Amino acid sequence: MSSNTPSRDSFTNKFGIIAAAAGSAIGLGNIWRFPYVLGENGGGAFLLVYLAFVLIIGVPVMISELLIGRRAQLNVFGAFRKLAPGQFWYLIGVMGVGAAFLILAFYSVVAGWTLHYVYLSLTNSLAGNTPGGMIETFENVQATKGLSVFWTLLFLGATAYIVRSGIEKGIEKYTKVLMPLLLLIILILIVRSVTLEGASEGLAFLFNPDFSKITSDVVLEALGQAFFSLSIGMGVIVTYGSYIKKSESLGGTALSVSLADTLIAVLAGVAIFPAAFAFDMAPNQGPGLVFITLPNIFNQMVGGYFFGLLFFVLLTIAALTSSISLLEVVVAYFTEELKLKRKRATWIAAGITGILGIVCAFNSSVFNVFDKFSSNILLPLGGLLIVIFVGWVIGPTMPREEIEADGRKAHYYKGFLFIIKFVAPVAIALVFLKGLGWI
Ligand code: TRP
Repeated sequence: MSSNTPSRDSFTNKFGIIAAAAGSAIGLGNIWRFPYVLGENGGGAFLLVYLAFVLIIGVPVMISELLIGRRAQLNVFGAFRKLAPGQFWYLIGVMGVGAAFLILAFYSVVAGWTLHYVYLSLTNSLAGNTPGGMIETFENVQATKGLSVFWTLLFLGATAYIVRSGIEKGIEKYTKVLMPLLLLIILILIVRSVTLEGASEGLAFLFNPDFSKITSDVVLEALGQAFFSLSIGMGVIVTYGSYIKKSESLGGTALSVSLADTLIAVLAGVAIFPAAFAFDMAPNQGPGLVFITLPNIFNQMVGGYFFGLLFFVLLTIAALTSSISLLEVVVAYFTEELKLKRKRATWIAAGITGILGIVCAFNSSVFNVFDKFSSNILLPLGGLLIVIFVGWVIGPTMPREEIEADGRKAHYYKGFLFIIKFVAPVAIALVFLKGLGWI
């Protein structure tokens, strides 16, 4: 049981913490989901609402999760049990497990597409394809169910293998090098994308907000995307918080991770939309957007074979560092609460997710329901409960103590408290109820 774990690991330095949390945050959510959701929700106006949510809700929720974890020194269930004994708050953790299953299921399908694109790049099968042909190629991947299922299960198997043998440390070592490399490739892609003829329309789509496009639906999608992309609202960050030394700044960590995550998402948008418009492709074509748009850019670049291959390999790795954080939530629950052995817990969790993943691969409506229900409902609900817990339940002294445990005065503390007590709960509740059509 977690509560008598003898000594707890901690991250050795600030970069280690940020790399690990950013490894969870940065993934398909930034490069696949953000552009497609933005494309379906009006472009620039969505971007503005999204940025506002990251700042006023995302960062405070992340600080709240970190401080709960660091104070309790436990996983998400244990943490709530310890801080609020005999109360129902640990249900946040249970909800998190449910969300992890749903997210991991459709996430593995998308990661499976990514793997297939690694294969297509390797065999140079995308070269010379017309923009229309790229759409067909993507539709073929989705339509060939056996293929989709194969790649989905392969990805999930790799995730399970890593989680089972606990070599996250090794993975971390690599991601510290590989994620900056991903950033570099995106920057190179941007140069090619924005210099294509007709690119400026894409930049306008992304950066010229058309406020008439803001509807309650758009606002809910932006909130869901912010939670999804930052990996918040289900307790992953609580667990990371428990590994952070008292001498580290929680506010600084939350801010750095959120900034890095947002930067990658926005840059992915800058790479994708100019190209989409230049090749006359609809920005609102949904989940296939990246897979259809980017190969067109690779075809137009010197060294396109190399960059395309490297891009999809790195995207797969970014997806892996996120999927292990998702599977870890389930495995931690199975081992610590249901007392299963780690190996068995991992394969059971992966098995259940695999079945759900197969259903997602076969049925795109199930895929969509998993995607939207987890991001737009479960995560914001988790976030709502977390801020209520920190703002109203555990009392005013503990959060301050924990945030200032690094010995520096948190001048932002009053603002933080105001946000988590009033602004964030009201905003989440309103967006939520309105998006569901209840008010
Ligand atoms: N944030 C990751 C991404 O953008 C996905 C992810 C990993 C996640 N862990 C999570 C989402 C926990 C929500 C909750 O790809």
